[in-house]
Amino acid sequence: MQRVKLSNTLEMSRLVYGMWRLGDDSDTSASHVEAKIQACLDQGITSFDQADIYGDYGAEAVLGNALRANPALRAKMEIVTKCDIVAPIGRYSDAKVKYYDTSRAHILKSVETSLTEMAIDHIDLLLIHRPDPFMDHHETGAALDEVVASGKVRAVGVSNFRPWDWTLLQSAMNTPLVTNQIEISLGEISPFTNGDLAFHQQHGQPVMAWSPLGGGMLMAGNPPVGIVADEIAAEFGVDRAAVAVAFLLAHPAGILPVMGTNNLTRVKTISDALKVNLDRESWFRLYEAALGHEVP
Ligand SMILES: NC(=O)c1ccc[n+]([C@@H]2O[C@H](COP(=O)([O-])OP(=O)(O)OC[C@H]3O[C@@H](n4cnc5c(N)ncnc54)[C@H](OP(=O)(O)O)[C@@H]3O)[C@@H](O)[C@H]2O)c1
Repeated sequence: MQRVKLSNTLEMSRLVYGMWRLGDDSDTSASHVEAKIQACLDQGITSFDQADIYGDYGAEAVLGNALRANPALRAKMEIVTKCDIVAPIGRYSDAKVKYYDTSRAHILKSVETSLTEMAIDHIDLLLIHRPDPFMDHHETGAALDEVVASGKVRAVGVSNFRPWDWTLLQSAMNTPLVTNQIEISLGEISPFTNGDLAFHQQHGQPVMAWSPLGGGMLMAGNPPVGIVADEIAAEFGVDRAAVAVAFLLAHPAGILPVMGTNNLTRVKTISDALKVNLDRESWFRLYEAALGHEVP
């Protein structure tokens, strides 16, 4: 598995395993979560994506139970988590409204809570989950610098930020933001042309792509893009899902897809993406199927 250097303190696997749906699985026992982590490690996937809000603020604890049961796993993993979304559920059920909180107090408290929930002593990568229209970039930037300086967080980044959000926050920080986690897939191709990927490609910053299978939507039935993906999958002897992920891997921006399957066998099926080297024509066959028409 290719390793990607995001900073002097952080290297991640090219494919990342996302834990948003961890709590949707009928089995959330420590042994089953351990088996899931092992299925990833077997493929060379060492990077795991969490957020405080996943599973109604419960998914970090599900991972924590597994790490308590088998503490040796931690050293084999890079753990990503996110903060800033406050929804009136779980630990925030008293909130009157859903909102974003990028204040110093919230970031510091979120880091402490995530460490406790996951039973770890540092977070490898902390992301601001959503751009906050009420953000004081000086306060947020200083808080992110502070959590890195404390050693509790190895590196920081953002998610769902547009280039201007990134530039604003970075302008008030000493620590480099190392990645932006955004939605990119054959079901969401706008980042290829709206400036999001171009911005990070220009600055040499790897981008993480969430929902690389469109949340499963690309796998259901036979949408035009599925038909083309199946044709290419047959050429390479892989599954449609591997082609959808290979579409992201092929892009010169150096995208890190974050897969979300709860199915242990599919961890391997999707990792077959690394065997698929799409040439320009195949990439455009998929792109045009996703676009719905030929490029002009
Ligand atoms: N930063 C953000 O704002 C944000 C937002 C959303 C997600 N994320 C991150 O991205 C990760 C991935 O998101 P996602 O779960 O939507 O990713 P995804 O890989 O696009 O979708 C996974 C879903 O597709 C389903 N699926 C159906 N058929 C499948 C097949 N043949 N092969 C594989 N999967 C199939 C899976 O079901 P099975 O479980 O049955 O395989 C699962 O429910 C999340 O876990 C989270 O870490 C981040």
